[in-house]
Amino acid sequence: MTALQDARDLFGSLTGRAPEGVWSSAGRANLIGEHTDYNEGFVLPFAIQHRTYAAAGMRGDGLIRVASTFAPDAVELRVADLEATFGGAAGSAVAEGRVPEWAAYPLGVAWAALAAARREAGDVAGVDIAIASDVPIGAGLSSSAAIEGAVATALDTLWDLGLEPLDKARVGRRAENEAVGAPTGIMDQVSSIMGRADAATFLDCRTLETRSVDLGLGREGLALLAIDTRVKHAHATGGYGDRRAACERGAAALGVPALRDVAAADLDRARDILDDVTFRRVRHIVTENQRVLDTVGVLSASGPRAIGELLVASHASMRDDFEISVPELDLAVETALEAGALGARMTGGGFGGSAVALVEVEAVDVVAHEAARAFAARGYTAPHCFTIEPSEGARRDA
Ligand code: GLA
Repeated sequence: MTALQDARDLFGSLTGRAPEGVWSSAGRANLIGEHTDYNEGFVLPFAIQHRTYAAAGMRGDGLIRVASTFAPDAVELRVADLEATFGGAAGSAVAEGRVPEWAAYPLGVAWAALAAARREAGDVAGVDIAIASDVPIGAGLSSSAAIEGAVATALDTLWDLGLEPLDKARVGRRAENEAVGAPTGIMDQVSSIMGRADAATFLDCRTLETRSVDLGLGREGLALLAIDTRVKHAHATGGYGDRRAACERGAAALGVPALRDVAAADLDRARDILDDVTFRRVRHIVTENQRVLDTVGVLSASGPRAIGELLVASHASMRDDFEISVPELDLAVETALEAGALGARMTGGGFGGSAVALVEVEAVDVVAHEAARAFAARGYTAPHCFTIEPSEGARRDA
């Protein structure tokens, strides 16, 4: 409960009063289905027990003020200036130094939430928002989606916006794409906001239909271990955008609206048409979509013990075809498997962050210990290992 209390305390020191409420949303890990979201494919993420809290209350002067325990200064803006701040080129407010990057997440959510609810800035009060989180930052567990979900949920109540959970997820993605300037998909926000305890969220990223898929880990004596490599990633720059561009190139060359529309049987033709790199990017997406569907099928037919091979195949595809892994992630996966994990794969956008291993509860300590040993032997920074529990999504806490 400490991050919740931290958010309250920060609100108190910012405003000298108590918040009207505290809202939160979860970090997430992806069980399988990587980089498929912006290709209109399938994903199977889950919300984790680490959460971000937004303590919030209205103010009378039309200002929106955001503060967080991980940045020294509060940032304020007139609600009436949100559109002028974020309505221009994607990410320009951050790139031009008009808004610190961290503040573009909550302020971008406020901007996108008003637009989604078709409300004018003049119709809503000013607001103070104090943010605290226990989602590890830079670990690839979507600390950003957790901020977006918490702030969208708080503003939905305070401003009486009437947004549905999926609307809030879209608001979060828009803030990230347009206010922050990171060209990400919608998986993280849907997972953070709509997660359920003991379940993963199956999402069709074309129709945005969701289904809760029971994981039954506890029943089977299994746990999910996150191995945070401590290699930091950033999706506003570099590899993530390149992969997205390669997928768009591949879809255009194959004459389909999105790689979702390419079947495994089309891959031979794709190999003839595409250059080698683009072909391998496409093959990852096509095979990964199928692995998500297979995982959902195997979970319901045989339970979580049987999905290990799919996780391993997914990692190999990200390492060899999509080329988004790093040596630390490969080592985490290999070591976990050698130490007895049933399956393991990197999770999230790649280029750093965490691997997730499916392990027997009694093997958690051994796998964590072996990962630490292997990292030390290579001279890597010690990994941070902790179990992650499929948990509930956005909610009001107080
Ligand atoms: C990041 C993005 C998501 C998704 C994953 C890769 O987490 O925010 O939209 O693309 O990478 O699966």
